[in-house]
Amino acid sequence: MNNNVETVVAELLGEVECRLAEATQAPSPFLADAARHVTLAGGKRFRPLLVILAALLAGADERRTDVLTVLPTPEIGMCGTGLLTADVRKRVVAASAVVELTHVASLYHDDVMDEATLRRGVMSANLHYGNTAAILVGDFLFAQASIIGADLGSEFVALQAATFAQLVQGQIAETRGPTLGEDPLLHYRQVVANKTASLIRTSILFGGMIAGLPEPQLAALERFGEKIGTAFQLADDLIDITSDVAGKDSGLDLRVGLATLPVLLLRESDNPADHALYAKVLQGLSLDETESVVAALRTHPVIAQARAQIVELAESARAELHNLAQCAARDQLCRLCDEAVNRMH
Ligand code: IPE
Ligand code: IPE
Ligand code: MG
Ligand code: MG
Repeated sequence: MNNNVETVVAELLGEVECRLAEATQAPSPFLADAARHVTLAGGKRFRPLLVILAALLAGADERRTDVLTVLPTPEIGMCGTGLLTADVRKRVVAASAVVELTHVASLYHDDVMDEATLRRGVMSANLHYGNTAAILVGDFLFAQASIIGADLGSEFVALQAATFAQLVQGQIAETRGPTLGEDPLLHYRQVVANKTASLIRTSILFGGMIAGLPEPQLAALERFGEKIGTAFQLADDLIDITSDVAGKDSGLDLRVGLATLPVLLLRESDNPADHALYAKVLQGLSLDETESVVAALRTHPVIAQARAQIVELAESARAELHNLAQCAARDQLCRLCDEAVNRMH
């Protein structure tokens, strides 16, 4: 059973690659080259995977002849066997391209904002092509996402636009920092919800919408997406401190004075030395200072505390899946909760 799901997921992800290659064509060779530079450089394709798995939930607890080519057996657990109709498969691939292009557009812009040098193991677009080109290519990719989304229907393109607006609000709130008197931890959680969890939630919702899942299941998927999306960004922020091998700059958040969860936990500590370290990070660090702060943080108890929060969040995401009928696609979504946690190690 799982083999079937895995095969269909691999096939669909292959089709998504083709769709992305198509969407990054442009009359200008420079634009096409710059658009493909990061888009086709790899990436986990986490958001397309969510679209696909959610779509494969179709038929978990009812017989849907409109989305499944063959009636699933009436037993619960027989869904997710890749019986999606050709039309539904096409829509799944298009929706996957929409979320991935939206994501990549945000990465082009984010790397300008963060003055990054490395993305997906290659030179970041801002460094390779300059800030102006990187911004415009991000805009181009976002437009391509909207064009594909429009074919899916107005509810898809409207949700994609609302999600991008939310993502931008998160990015702006992050650059502005907490307002006077605002709890920095609450501010951070809001930023994470807006800049990252929003698109991850929408990805899974797109799959559920295409599968024609009933409202209570869509609501459960939305809650799942919000939680796993938050865990995903918290893990990413932890990796920024704990790993040198993510295919992007490490220690970047510290260098620009961005306080993520482990740093914010220093603020909660009773130890005055931790408060001093917190204040130092907020000022932004030189390259040498970043190295020493990264070394200090890597052995600091705040890392384990942050990890524990992420594990708890991933567990809470997993619990939302119990609102869906058991099936192979749901099992795969469960596995993603483990992976969200495992990538921190
Ligand atoms: C990076 O996203 C930015 C975050 C929201 C954490 P991913 O970790 O999904 O990056 P790619 O797509 O694999 O490059
Ligand atoms: C990126 O946040 C979130 C978006 C692109 C919206 P980060 O700045 O933390 O992501 P990385 O670490 O550069 O991938
Ligand atoms: Mg960044
Ligand atoms: Mg950023």
